[in-house]
Amino acid sequence: MKQIYLDNASTSFPKPESVPKAVFDFMTGIGANINRGTYESAYSAEETVFETREMLSELFNAGDCKNVVFTKNVTESINLLLKGFLKSGDHIICSSMEHNAVMRPLVQLNDYGVEFSRIPCDTEGNLNLDSLEGLIQPNTKAIIMMHASNVCGTIMPIEAVGEFCKSHNLSFFVDCAQTAGVIDIDMKKCHIDAICFTGHKSLLGPQGIGGIILTDELAEKLTPLTVGGTGSISHTEDTPTFMPDKFEAGTMNLPGIYGLNAGLKYINEIGISTIREHELFLTELFLEGLKKLNLQEEKIRIIGHTDIKDRTGVVSIQVIDQDQADVAYRLESEFSIMTRVGLHCAPNAHKTLNTYPEGTVRFSFGFFNTEDDVMASLSALESIIK
Ligand SMILES: Cc1ncc(COP(=O)(O)O)c(C=O)c1O
Repeated sequence: MKQIYLDNASTSFPKPESVPKAVFDFMTGIGANINRGTYESAYSAEETVFETREMLSELFNAGDCKNVVFTKNVTESINLLLKGFLKSGDHIICSSMEHNAVMRPLVQLNDYGVEFSRIPCDTEGNLNLDSLEGLIQPNTKAIIMMHASNVCGTIMPIEAVGEFCKSHNLSFFVDCAQTAGVIDIDMKKCHIDAICFTGHKSLLGPQGIGGIILTDELAEKLTPLTVGGTGSISHTEDTPTFMPDKFEAGTMNLPGIYGLNAGLKYINEIGISTIREHELFLTELFLEGLKKLNLQEEKIRIIGHTDIKDRTGVVSIQVIDQDQADVAYRLESEFSIMTRVGLHCAPNAHKTLNTYPEGTVRFSFGFFNTEDDVMASLSALESIIK
């Protein structure tokens, strides 16, 4: 039976062929580190890293590409950001839908005197913008939020929140793990001071590469989390104050950057709007199919928006009166359909969506999924609910 991968919210699979090829070509043909060697292959790697920074800063309309900092994933980017920015006595606001990549650093920082508040969201994951004003305290420094939920796909109104931050003199940080490469994000238009991304989801790169893009002002203010050798100003033991070296200590993940470079080129070639259209087409087909399965009697609860307005290709469901883990197990063992079940590293999102503690079965569509994958999922669910 054909294997159907529907766990793209976790990591995209398959990747465009050019991605593993770029990793392989780097590892077999180049191999050198950047900022250290004075030989041709090191310069060639340096050019690719620079080109990747440029593509990323263009993707997010970020301005100067020196402010693109590579990390291993969005989790590391968020840790770098929050721990370098917040001090004891500060207050920050997040949404009630955040992933643990945001919540765990905030809970940890709470032990060091940092306070946080959550913007309430409704049971479809929609942000209550009207409550923002009331959450501001004299010590509030920033708002951090995801661009789209990894549990139900609901998109957050980052443009409106960015406006709010600007008018209240707050910094604005966005976790775009679920949207980078599928939805256009304009850092300038949305007044975003730091955007945190991961390379292995819709940016189509390999695991182990991610990053953060900072504005000049924030880059100046932020204390680096990790310091060490950068290959630059080696005559001193002081950490560079210039970008990106200020935040990029240690040997970089060059195979990862080469893979990400190829992923970004693929996205540019296809076009973000084509990728988004395809994912929404599959999502709509799936949602409409689920509604048909529910015509006689509601057997499947759709979590979040039941149409494609303000959502991504992440669809969580609960099969009523069944153990969700059993449903996911049967999807895999009987129909070769790979989904994800559980709480998806976002316990408070599930409390918000009324799906805690049982969790959901999550289908997440990617660019390489087809109409047939959707139809196979619907027919598998039809058998399961019988
Ligand atoms: C919204 C969101 N933030 C953060 C993460 C963490 O991503 P990574 O494991 O690549 O750091 C994920 C991964 O699922 C996510 O969906």
